[in-house]
Amino acid sequence: MAPRAFIIGHPVKHSRSPLIHGTWLKTYGLAGSYEAIDTFTPELPALFARLRAGEFKGGNVTIPLKLDVLRHCDTVDPLARQIGAVNTLLTLHGKVFGFNTDYMGFLANLDQGAPGWDKDLGEVIVLGAGGAARAVLVALAQRGARTIHILNRTPETAIETARSLAGPFIPHGLEAFAGLAPRASLVVNTTSVGMDNTRFEGLDLLLLPAHAVVTDIVYVPLVTPLLADAAARGLRTVDGLGMLLHQAVPGFKAWFGVEPEVTPQLRAVVEATL
Ligand code: ATR
Repeated sequence: MAPRAFIIGHPVKHSRSPLIHGTWLKTYGLAGSYEAIDTFTPELPALFARLRAGEFKGGNVTIPLKLDVLRHCDTVDPLARQIGAVNTLLTLHGKVFGFNTDYMGFLANLDQGAPGWDKDLGEVIVLGAGGAARAVLVALAQRGARTIHILNRTPETAIETARSLAGPFIPHGLEAFAGLAPRASLVVNTTSVGMDNTRFEGLDLLLLPAHAVVTDIVYVPLVTPLLADAAARGLRTVDGLGMLLHQAVPGFKAWFGVEPEVTPQLRAVVEATL
């Protein structure tokens, strides 16, 4: 039987994951399918029963279910548990394994978009302390960043996130940017600022050193005001679309047996829908 995979969440109709996986299935000429299933929390036990019965090989999980699925999995990857979110499921011998590939996607996107970004990594500034920030923070710590500043509009949330993740994290309010920027080699936006072309007020990118890389996990618009400002300042920038594409790689490989490539063609297919 051809393997079937899905994306669950609500709403799922705007998700680009069916397009990404569908494009790869076609590119590699594989028999298999990937479908969007609009799912609410109370429906998870029934969905996990279908997974365990072998109807699906696995799938992706999006908002608002990334936390809820955790307790339904038979085994959860330690990093996914630390992040507190599962976005990828795999069924093996009737057991469901939960992973988080967002953190891998974040790293792979930087590796592709700004090769060498992690060499001599100085201090890192992460803007935001929510769910998306947690995957980025764990990824950066795992890659060996030694000082990671969490700057959040609500400093209490930064303190809470730093405490719960346990790592080289130092919490601040957003106003700390000016003092930290001269030593930062990477700035990551994990907040929703940038959507609808909004920008951070009072974030002076001129204070960053010339070798700093700036990346955003927002990908609509593709070039957020933060990235535009950084590029205008002559800094290397990496947009957020690559994270979405790269987080899909491990799931596809696990369900369909081929490690897919993130190519300019795939990017163009997805970019055309933004
Ligand atoms: P997600 O799971 O996508 O990270 P979230 O948990 O709601 O969503 O987190 C959103 C992040 O964006 C938070 O860090 C939030 O800051 P607060 O903790 O102060 O709410 C940040 N954020 C959202 N809108 C913002 C704005 N206008 N200015 C600054 N930060 C903002």
